Amino acid sequence: MPGDEVRSLVAKLISDRTLSSFGSWTVFGRKVVNTFCQLPFLWPWVIRDIDYARIMSGTTKISFLKRVALKVVWFWPRIIEANLWVKGAKGARKDPSHFVQIDQSTTDTIRLIGEIIGDRSQSILDVGCNSGRHLYLFQKLGFDRLHGFEAMGAAFETFRTRFPDTYRVATLHHGLWQQLLKESPTCHYDVVFTWGATIETVHPSFPIVRELSRVSRNIVVCVINEHDHHPRFWTYQFAKAGFDLIFAIRPLGDEANAVTDTDSKSAYTTSLLVYKRAKQVD
Ligand SMILES: C[S@@+](CC[C@H](N)C(=O)[O-])C[C@H]1O[C@@H](n2cnc3c(N)ncnc32)[C@H](O)[C@@H]1O
Repeated sequence: MPGDEVRSLVAKLISDRTLSSFGSWTVFGRKVVNTFCQLPFLWPWVIRDIDYARIMSGTTKISFLKRVALKVVWFWPRIIEANLWVKGAKGARKDPSHFVQIDQSTTDTIRLIGEIIGDRSQSILDVGCNSGRHLYLFQKLGFDRLHGFEAMGAAFETFRTRFPDTYRVATLHHGLWQQLLKESPTCHYDVVFTWGATIETVHPSFPIVRELSRVSRNIVVCVINEHDHHPRFWTYQFAKAGFDLIFAIRPLGDEANAVTDTDSKSAYTTSLLVYKRAKQVD
């Protein structure tokens, strides 16, 4: 487990500005619905290979009526959230150049995660890797078994030009992670990692926590806003999937302000959550 150096990094990362809240009662209610009022067994019946192919072709149009209908049947499986990402390109609403910047806090956070993982021979899957900035930082730390899942084709071109050495060694899969995870063998990656509004945006009809946990042999690292997009009781879901929370940095005040604050969209709302498989496998 992390030593003194890591502890001081933690202290640095938690600044006074990291005040966030548990969320309002509205967020709490959404967490209840997203965690407990879903029918994940519908997924394989409703979402077929052809649906993934349609979204990946970038030609899917979603009518207003369909959007309204999907609001009513909140539990109905869907992958339309990915539509905008798939179409990402230079100058588009989702542009891969928005995901190349590396600031000091990102470097420090990845270094901290590297310390927690320890063994440099462990493989790392970045779910929603975009242009590969985090895989690049892991490579600089000495990890070289690197993998990425990403829906935005244009991101791979940015990856190739911005981080060519990482691009060369990484195994990249172009597709929706819902499909890629389902197709991945159990315990296939040592570490599963995700950063940003990535898994938060997955509609709760897909059992994302169960799938991330299934494909991870050892550790799952999430750098996420626990209260935004499709919020759920993340740690509860990981525990159910057999993973314990072994390390966390949450925005200051997150516990103290429970259920009393508003849905602040502060820039400092991100948690670092590290989960470890409770029963180790060979
Ligand atoms: C907020 S960005 C974060 C990117 C990256 N983690 C980073 O911080 O540089 C979310 C990423 O997830 C990808 N994404 C969103 N939905 C996806 C899906 N269903 N399957 C695969 N990738 C998806 C997007 O294309 C985008 O690259």
